[in-house]
Amino acid sequence: MRMVDLIEKKRDGKELTKEEIDFMIKGYTDGTIPDYQMSAFAMAVFFNGMTPDEIANLTMAMVESGDQVDLSAIEGIKVDKHSTGGVGDTTTLVLAPLVASLGVPVAKMSGRGLGHTGGTLDKLESIPGFHIEISEQEFFDLVNKNKVAVIGQTGNLTPADKKLYGLRDVTATVNSIPLIASSIMSKKIAAGADAIVLDVKVGSGAFMKDLDSARKLAKTMVEIGNNVNRKTMAVISNMDQPLGYAVGNALEVKEAIDTLKGQGPEDLYDLCLTLGSQMVVLANKAKTIDEARQMLEESIRSGKALEKFKTFVAAQGGDSSVIDDPSKLPSAKFTFEVPAKEDGYVSKIVAESIGTAAMLLGAGRATKESTIDLSVGLVLRKKIGDKVEKGESLVTIHSNTESVDEIVNRIYHAYTISKEFVKPATLIYDEIT
Ligand code: URA
Ligand code: CA
Repeated sequence: MRMVDLIEKKRDGKELTKEEIDFMIKGYTDGTIPDYQMSAFAMAVFFNGMTPDEIANLTMAMVESGDQVDLSAIEGIKVDKHSTGGVGDTTTLVLAPLVASLGVPVAKMSGRGLGHTGGTLDKLESIPGFHIEISEQEFFDLVNKNKVAVIGQTGNLTPADKKLYGLRDVTATVNSIPLIASSIMSKKIAAGADAIVLDVKVGSGAFMKDLDSARKLAKTMVEIGNNVNRKTMAVISNMDQPLGYAVGNALEVKEAIDTLKGQGPEDLYDLCLTLGSQMVVLANKAKTIDEARQMLEESIRSGKALEKFKTFVAAQGGDSSVIDDPSKLPSAKFTFEVPAKEDGYVSKIVAESIGTAAMLLGAGRATKESTIDLSVGLVLRKKIGDKVEKGESLVTIHSNTESVDEIVNRIYHAYTISKEFVKPATLIYDEIT
């Protein structure tokens, strides 16, 4: 078999066989197929797309390019949740203890963040003492005992995807639905999930800028999962503005604690209940979505979910007293308000600009090598649809330096205030099964 023939076949809109896709991904992973041939192939896919069989075969070839996590030592159906990326997305911190409190095993393997804020690991490390350096055996034991644990990424998962994603990034081929879908799903499948709940974001702060593309991406990922025997569903949610109010690591931990107490931002709470009910049903812990939702609401009301968060934190060395007293979390030296320059209604908040402003404060990594400051970030005071009066604060900046002019400029740039009444943003557009 020759790679040039496979490129030609895809260029001419024909379908590749499983053997051909396996040959290509193996060769690309071991270096016998060079980057330039793989780039030409990615561009051919960008223009001609792939059939459902090709997408499933590409996904599994990438899964098989490296290690696969075996979670069979953990009892029950392991449901993983994945978000296609957003700003201030604190759902994992809420969902992990929340669904675990109903007996759904949450075996979370998590990475560090790149970009606007840290990943789930970074956020959890803002709890004093919390650590993720546990052995695999300890991880399995903790999930069996408490139903929830988090471990740092181990092993060499989906090296083909790592290489291909890097190549796509510099060849203008990231934005292809078959390539995004297979990239995300290969990582979830290699991480050992039995079932997957996807949160596909749409809007200014997301990969998918319009609802049609988001629906198409969601359908493609659900189809991959179902094709390879992983029950999969997707929720399509709004990312026209950051989720919740907090953007920043310790600030988001506090927001997650508030939400588990039933006192969090409405949009974060709603999205967690929507995603959580799907997870509970996929794990066979409830028969219907309505039943699952009621169980989750009850777990928050009764304090069971919050209790589960304490158990989880303490089991990994963390100081669980921060959950009753979040003032023990790292906090920044200074806070500054950003006053509105006019009266009106917030009509737009460019999520990406808010994310970048938080990163510049030190809440995120500009490159893999950057260190992050867990205490800094932004807390939005006004969201889309809110009425504002001139001089009222739009955002509180939590900073460890006094020079925040550039941050302030970016925040003004992110907000649009309109004179006319603006409806609050729709949060959940669709569910795809
Ligand atoms: N996230 C991924 O992991 N892969 C893509 O291709 C796009 C977003
Ligand atoms: Ca948030």
